[in-house]
Amino acid sequence: MPSTPVMDDKAIVKDYFNATGFDRWRRIYGDGEVNKVQLDIRKGHQKTVDTVMAWLQADGDLAGLTICDAGCGVGSLSLPLAAAGARVFASDISEKMVAEARQQAQETLASEQLPQFAVSDLESLSGTYHTVACLDVLIHYPQAQAATMIGHLSSLAESRLLLSFAPKTLAYSLLKKIGDFFPGPSKATRAYLHREADVIKALESEGWRIQRQAMTKTQFYFSRLLEAMR
Ligand SMILES: C[S@@+](CC[C@H](N)C(=O)[O-])C[C@H]1O[C@@H](n2cnc3c(N)ncnc32)[C@H](O)[C@@H]1O
Repeated sequence: MPSTPVMDDKAIVKDYFNATGFDRWRRIYGDGEVNKVQLDIRKGHQKTVDTVMAWLQADGDLAGLTICDAGCGVGSLSLPLAAAGARVFASDISEKMVAEARQQAQETLASEQLPQFAVSDLESLSGTYHTVACLDVLIHYPQAQAATMIGHLSSLAESRLLLSFAPKTLAYSLLKKIGDFFPGPSKATRAYLHREADVIKALESEGWRIQRQAMTKTQFYFSRLLEAMR
C-alpha cells in the first residue's frame, strides 16, 4: 500500500499547534521574553505582517474589505487588519491558536471590530472574500499539497491572494539540511521549502498575476511574500 504523507502532515501539524507548537509560537508571536533565535524569528515575522499592512493601507480601501486570514495563528495579521476597519474572517486548524487569537481580539479591539473566528482546516473553508491571506502556513506542507491548498484558497478569493512561504534556494536548502542534523525539542514539525517558480505556476494556473512581492530575511527567518491579483 502506498503511504499517505499528505494526511500525516496535516494531522502532525494540527497536533503540534495544539500542544508544544502552541506554547512556542504564542511566545514567539507575543511580546514577552524569548531566546535570541525566537526574538530573531519574531522580528522577521513582524516584518512580513508589517509589509502586508503597508501594502493594504497604501491602497486606501482597507476599511470594509472582507478578508479571510487562513491559518491565522494567534491573530498577528487578523487583529491589525480588524483594527484598521477590515471585516476579518480568521480561522486556524488549531483550536488553541483560535482561542488565543479570540482572547487577544476581545482584549484589544472594539466589539464592532471583532473578527469572526473559526477552527477549520483551510481546505474546508467556504465562502468568498475580497482578499485571502495565508502567511507562513505552506511551510508545513510539501509542494503537491501546497498547490492543492493554493487552488482552494483561490476559490475563496475574489480579487487578491496574499501568500508567504519559505523559498527553496540552494543556500536555504543547505541551511535546512544542517538544521535537520540538530533536532532540538522545539523543532517538532517538518519544514518544507518551496520553489518560487512552483508557487507562481500554481497561482497562474488559477488565473492570478503577481502584483507586489517582498522578501523578509533575518538570521533565522526567511519568508517570500507574494500578492496575487485578478
Ligand atoms: C507558523 S504559524 C503562522 C500563523 C499566522 N498565519 C501568522 O503569520 O501569524 C502557522 C499556522 O498555520 C496553522 N495551520 C497549519 N496547517 C493548517 C491548515 N491546513 N489549515 C489551517 N491552518 C493551518 C497552524 O495551526 C498555525 O497556527
